[in-house]
Amino acid sequence: MHFPTLLPSALFLAFIIPIFCPFSCLRLSAACHVDDETGLLGFKSGIRADPSGMLASWKKGTECCKWLGVTCLSGDRVTALSLAGQPNNLTSSLTGTISPSLSKLKYLDGLYLQDLKNLGGPFPDSLFTLPKLLFVYIENNKLSGPIPTNIGNLIELEALSLQGNQFSGPIPSSIADLTQLTQLKLGGNLLTGTIPLGIQRLRNLTLLHLERNQLSGPIPDLFSGLSNLRSITLSDNNFTGTIPGSISALAPKLAYLELAHNSLTGKIPDFLGKFHALDTLDLSWNHFSGTLPKSFANLTKIFNLNLSHNKLVDPFPELHVRGIESLDLSYNQFHLGRIPEWVTTSPIIYSLKLARCGIKMKLEEWKPAETYFYDYIDLSENQITGSPVKLLNRTDYLVGFYASGNKLKFNLESIRFVKSLKHLDLSRNLVYGKVPKAISGLSELNVSYNHLCGQLPSTKFPASTFAGNDCLCGSPLPKCKA
Ligand SMILES: *[C@@H]1O[C@H](CO)[C@@H](O)[C@H](O)[C@H]1NC(C)=O
Ligand SMILES: *[C@@H]1O[C@H](CO)[C@@H](O)[C@H](O)[C@H]1NC(C)=O
Ligand SMILES: *[C@@H]1O[C@H](CO)[C@@H](O)[C@H](O)[C@H]1NC(C)=O
Ligand SMILES: *[C@@H]1O[C@H](CO)[C@@H](O)[C@H](O)[C@H]1NC(C)=O
Ligand SMILES: *[C@@H]1O[C@H](CO)[C@@H](O)[C@H](O)[C@H]1NC(C)=O
Ligand SMILES: *[C@@H]1O[C@H](CO)[C@@H](O)[C@H](O)[C@H]1NC(C)=O
Ligand SMILES: *[C@@H]1O[C@H](CO)[C@@H](O)[C@H](O)[C@H]1NC(C)=O
Repeated sequence: MHFPTLLPSALFLAFIIPIFCPFSCLRLSAACHVDDETGLLGFKSGIRADPSGMLASWKKGTECCKWLGVTCLSGDRVTALSLAGQPNNLTSSLTGTISPSLSKLKYLDGLYLQDLKNLGGPFPDSLFTLPKLLFVYIENNKLSGPIPTNIGNLIELEALSLQGNQFSGPIPSSIADLTQLTQLKLGGNLLTGTIPLGIQRLRNLTLLHLERNQLSGPIPDLFSGLSNLRSITLSDNNFTGTIPGSISALAPKLAYLELAHNSLTGKIPDFLGKFHALDTLDLSWNHFSGTLPKSFANLTKIFNLNLSHNKLVDPFPELHVRGIESLDLSYNQFHLGRIPEWVTTSPIIYSLKLARCGIKMKLEEWKPAETYFYDYIDLSENQITGSPVKLLNRTDYLVGFYASGNKLKFNLESIRFVKSLKHLDLSRNLVYGKVPKAISGLSELNVSYNHLCGQLPSTKFPASTFAGNDCLCGSPLPKCKA
């Protein structure tokens, strides 16, 4: 719109606005609509404690469109309410419930109440009276009780996140009516029962997150029409049965699949190798068995692969990845023999966990292309010989090194303890020498069952940390002989 440039602003406000924007004009109005002000002040009165003063600007008679967390994109009407605490900061919180007066905010399209920690009470039924509502993110609060059975009445919703609350009971089957949903996040609640079959009607879903609940039964075969899904997390539930075949329909787009900590069984299906966009696959802590499909070699984009704590057997396919970032194959029934070449050559790896993987090699023969980014290395319960001294001299930011139950033979005093190192487990090896003072910087240490000798430096660790060595002495072990 072009206005004559010399138009006096008073005239502009008095006459031009009603002509050119009879219903709405950006933020020129002095105060927000009286209903919205009443609704917001009602919300505020439902808050009993606001230790960080999040709602301090919410004062009757002031411009409510300028209050913290309030957005008006439709003239004087409030269109979004967005209050977020800082995660892990208890001061940055709100205590109270979501007042029913929220129902006065008739133009609200987005409600974002995130990380407020002590916001409790039941699901706010006032949402059912907000005709324009599209986005609901009530995350990491303490709401409880059931998710209302008529949740499906919110048919316009494009995103629903209730993650990180204490909602209990089943996922209502009416959720199937929310056909415009692109995101459904219900993780971290106390939900029980099965995944409603009707979820197959949510064809616009890109994200389905149901992790950390008590959901059970088989994962239903409902994915064939959900070809927009990019991220599925079902970890930490009680799901049983096999990976459903219809997941294969997601091969072109799925980037993230997490099914860890369930009771899933059967073979890892061949079709997973067709997931060319997959960058994270976590199937750990289940009962998967058999060999990995050869097609896994085609997972060229995979960055994070966690298959640990299953019953998988050899052979492990050679992957054609440009680089893996984190890999955990621990506690299966693999006999890898050596650390795989596609791991060794990765230029970006930061976490490598190959505990009890049947590795029989001399550690010096492992020549990783990159060691700079490593924060965790776990090679426990293998038959690795030699010394980690050179390796630990190249890992400047290592946080944890776990190598218990191997045949490592080296002088503990020749290890470089980088500042970042917090966890060191060398128990049940052939480590000799004295225990150096530098262990004081660690928060976890185990050097039991080695051939260490001599007086211990002063230490906070218990006797079991040092048990079963040749001739260690001094507190917490018995006194050294004079
Ligand atoms: C926690 O939040 C409060 C209030 O917003 C702030 O004053 C304080 O600096 C924060 N603390 C930390 C450690 O960030
Ligand atoms: C859902 O998908 C349909 C068909 O692709 C599309 O027209 C519609 O805009 C989508 N809705 C949302 C909220 O993305
Ligand atoms: C889920 O499984 C765990 C461990 O197997 C069990 O303790 C718990 O009772 C189960 N919960 C439900 C709701 O089945
Ligand atoms: C990898 O993909 C190619 C092309 O899609 C296919 O021809 C080949 O058989 C696949 N390899 C395996 C081991 O499945
Ligand atoms: C699997 O491994 C990845 C990368 O190391 C890690 O981030 C993830 O937490 C692991 N999953 C479980 C269930 O521990
Ligand atoms: C550790 O690295 C430094 C320099 O990077 C080198 O001088 C030293 O000899 C190395 N120590 C061992 C035991 O490899
Ligand atoms: C140290 O390791 C031994 C053997 O691996 C184990 O039995 C013991 O519980 C561990 N002690 C500590 C303090 O972690």
